[in-house]
Amino acid sequence: METTMLAKKVNAAELEQKVKNMYRDVALNPKGEYHFELGRTLAEKLGYEKECLDLIPTAAIDSFAGVGYFCDIANFNEGEKVLDLGSGSGMDTFITALKVGKSGHVTGIDMTDEQLEKATRLADESKFENVRFTKGYLEKLPFADASFDVVISNGVINLCPDKAKVFAEVARVLKPKGRMAIADIVTEHQLPENITCDSTLWASCIGGAGQEDAYKTSIEKAGMEVLYVRNNAAYEFISKSAKGASKQYGVKSVSLFAEKK
Ligand SMILES: C[S@@+](CC[C@H](N)C(=O)[O-])C[C@H]1O[C@@H](n2cnc3c(N)ncnc32)[C@H](O)[C@@H]1O
Repeated sequence: METTMLAKKVNAAELEQKVKNMYRDVALNPKGEYHFELGRTLAEKLGYEKECLDLIPTAAIDSFAGVGYFCDIANFNEGEKVLDLGSGSGMDTFITALKVGKSGHVTGIDMTDEQLEKATRLADESKFENVRFTKGYLEKLPFADASFDVVISNGVINLCPDKAKVFAEVARVLKPKGRMAIADIVTEHQLPENITCDSTLWASCIGGAGQEDAYKTSIEKAGMEVLYVRNNAAYEFISKSAKGASKQYGVKSVSLFAEKK
């Protein structure tokens, strides 16, 4: 099923509210119970280097709700400008800020106020000067064309009903030959409507997951070439319903690298 067709089957306003509620809780109460794992144990399991985690704010790591690791495929260079889509409490933004150094810069964008407030406060307290967090939507990025060398994102695009729009925006804000390095949830088999229309499963990073081939086609149609994809076997859903859906439809985490043509 095309991602745009999927977009028509879910109530977008209800979904946005559920996603905001879920990730407000993740920002404010990272020790709560969720369908997914959170925090430092998850980050280390996915491949984040301990030495880098030790250099960024602990509270950003506590609210980390990503699904994979991509710094190895992003190949960041000193001085690069990076955009983090759906930056949450900021863990990937801070980690990337270490990689691009003081001459580089990382912008995190998110639609959930509590995530943005937390990330901004942590950046100020820890004196990370090469990051900034801004409010906005992935579907309408508030940046000029060709503004970034790299776009990153972790566990976010699956939450967006119109993935084609998001990838078109990514391609627009990337410089020519710019890179996209992301981790996200996709499925081997198209999910049935009872799952795609369940906004709670959607907000838990399952219901909105695109079928893997359709997901890659949407990236290519936006003008980027998918050069590498790997499965992240270390990422697991933890609630019974999430585990069931994951097993039945091959819901899985991938890390993906693409280049703007
Ligand atoms: C699963 S969390 C991941 C957060 C962060 N990347 C991390 O790894 O911890 C998803 C985040 O994406 C944000 N988000 C979801 N859909 C969005 C959209 N359409 N525009 C902007 N932010 C969005 C949510 O507010 C939430 O903070």
